[in-house]
Amino acid sequence: MNKNLRHKLKNIVFAHQQSGYNTDMTQKPKVTFLPVNIECSFSGQVTVLELATQNNLLINSSCGGNATCTTCRVFVESHLSQLPERTEQEKETLEGRGFADKERLSCQLQAFDGLVVRLL
Ligand code: FES
Repeated sequence: MNKNLRHKLKNIVFAHQQSGYNTDMTQKPKVTFLPVNIECSFSGQVTVLELATQNNLLINSSCGGNATCTTCRVFVESHLSQLPERTEQEKETLEGRGFADKERLSCQLQAFDGLVVRLL
């Protein structure tokens, strides 16, 4: 590998590291929970509420994850532009309540690598 190409690859890896993306393909994707600053790895499809519960982090969920109570609300602290659309159930429940874009129902939000959420 020539010196110029090696330098370009090094810059790309550095940029990915700075963006919060997982550049080590052998590592599982992770979500970070604040303010406790705990990283939880996962595989497959899992909601933020399920991931927190699997890792003994308490998020209230009065309706059992059915998107009707809003007690599982979290604040998203990263990747705001990459958040998946709210589910239809989440939209219906939050309609007229004035929730900010970064306020999401953890029972409806699918975990993805690099996501950082703040527990209430
Ligand atoms: S657990 Fe009730 S809205 Fe998410």
